[in-house]
Amino acid sequence: MTQLLRKIIFPTAGMGTRFLPATKATPKEMLTIVDKPLIQYGVEEALDAGMDEIVMVTGRGKRAIEDHFDISAELEANLHAAGKDELYQTVSRVARMADVAYIRQKQPLGLGHAVLCAAAWVGDECFGISLADELILSNDDGAMQQLRAVHEQTGASVIGLACVPKDEVNRYGIVKASHEGDLLRLQAMVEKPAVDDAPSDMAMIGRYIFTPRLFDLLREAKPSVGGEIQLTDAICKLAQEEPVYGVLIEGERFDAGNPYGFLLANAKLGLQHPDYGDALRTALKSLV
Ligand code: G1P
Repeated sequence: MTQLLRKIIFPTAGMGTRFLPATKATPKEMLTIVDKPLIQYGVEEALDAGMDEIVMVTGRGKRAIEDHFDISAELEANLHAAGKDELYQTVSRVARMADVAYIRQKQPLGLGHAVLCAAAWVGDECFGISLADELILSNDDGAMQQLRAVHEQTGASVIGLACVPKDEVNRYGIVKASHEGDLLRLQAMVEKPAVDDAPSDMAMIGRYIFTPRLFDLLREAKPSVGGEIQLTDAICKLAQEEPVYGVLIEGERFDAGNPYGFLLANAKLGLQHPDYGDALRTALKSLV
């Protein structure tokens, strides 16, 4: 029997070292793609999948995320008084789009540890995890909704995947999978393997749904790759105990937590923008 899946964790405590100096004083989750911060794209994707109980696991220097989803009474009053209705609607919608809780990860002990910080908040329910620096644009169902469909079919844990070039496998958790009917069942996964050790070219791309058993396995996890408590190690154990499925996500993915992926994402969404798209196309053509 599938539980109602509403809770989702956004780990947002990472230091953003791939994007320094931009992320020295600004959370990487607040970097903007056209006119919205990355984290808002992730939250909107989660809401579209019916996951409207959100917890952000934050760290020092991340207060801007809380402010972004908070009501700014002064700003709203000023925009309203100035008759800037469209902006007023935009700002007020962001503050009311979701019920967001915040938990501090006191030390940067790894993604697995960050997720574990939210265990008490989640309780004994299935839950999602979304890494907001992976921006995934889909024409139809968003990435979390694609995972949710398989979770509703199976009641099991489900992980979003994408095929990556061979020379990039060392940046991701890479899975070993086999076909089970229409589904991909995951047998094992390894965090950031060397090219020769990678079990496939299928990478986990920061979208997950788990049964609460994951938390028990995270509690037992020891530091591994990079001296951190890795989510991947706990998933690997989970896959030995119960079914864990993979979904090759349909959509266009941008690793916007590094400058190149961020630039591409801005170009892509900028070109699609109803106000700036045409002008940007002309300007880019004249630049190249
Ligand atoms: C994390 C995970 C990794 C996953 C990646 C997706 O790595 O540990 O398994 O493939 O996110 O972006 P990070 O990018 O935080 O080093």
